[in-house]
Amino acid sequence: MSIIKLDATDSTNSYLRELYTNETVADFTMVIAKKQTHGRGQMGAKWESQDAKNLTFSVFKDLGGFHLESPFAISLVVSLALRKALQSFLIPHLHVKWPNDILSVNKKICGVLIENVIKQQDVTASIIGIGLNVNQIDFEDLPKASSLKQITGIIYDLDEVACAILDQLKYYFEVLEKGNYEALKEAYESCLFRKNKPSTFEDAEGLQFSGFIKGVSNIGNLKVLLEDNIVKEFDLKELTLLY
Ligand code: BTN
Repeated sequence: MSIIKLDATDSTNSYLRELYTNETVADFTMVIAKKQTHGRGQMGAKWESQDAKNLTFSVFKDLGGFHLESPFAISLVVSLALRKALQSFLIPHLHVKWPNDILSVNKKICGVLIENVIKQQDVTASIIGIGLNVNQIDFEDLPKASSLKQITGIIYDLDEVACAILDQLKYYFEVLEKGNYEALKEAYESCLFRKNKPSTFEDAEGLQFSGFIKGVSNIGNLKVLLEDNIVKEFDLKELTLLY
């Protein structure tokens, strides 16, 4: 394991992927950058972060030899690890907004971009990109975003927070490797944002509908109880949770 600290890179996920294509990368290698010029978010979005105020880093996980129940297992591990690490800094009201945004007091403080290396239909390695808003306090035009400092008023040491997350990632991957997928899924569902609350969604065509989040399926689809009393499963491209 090693920690690679960079002043700037395009994206820590891209950096780690490039490194992996050129050389052997040790399990849990972490690449941290003070600045990303092309930070990437989910579904092709950009990830913007104020330089040196927040954490933008990626962790390499070697899964060689370990057969995942589903690639969603990585989301479970990462979400729970982030939540546990943030709890240790006493960050209040933490929830996971499906699939893996971390919210505190109903605002997004952390986003995750998981990019898997797949060989013969098995995930053999994973690049886990984490963008955590730490000491940034102004979020112009982003009313649903927040940071640790904005929530608690405390200035955090970025290295300390990153190390706490890395430790929890190691712990939860161990839990997974011991075969505890179901227990992880249950723990994840217990902190799912808006679970069992009346919620409004938008489908891929932009149509709004209401329902209650009930949990996730084994492959990580969101289970929603619809008005006709039927539980339907949706993948990431099929719905957006509005409120
Ligand atoms: C999202 O919520 O859309 C996911 C954001 C993930 C951002 C992180 S920052 C470090 C890593 N490098 C990237 O380019 N993206 C991820």
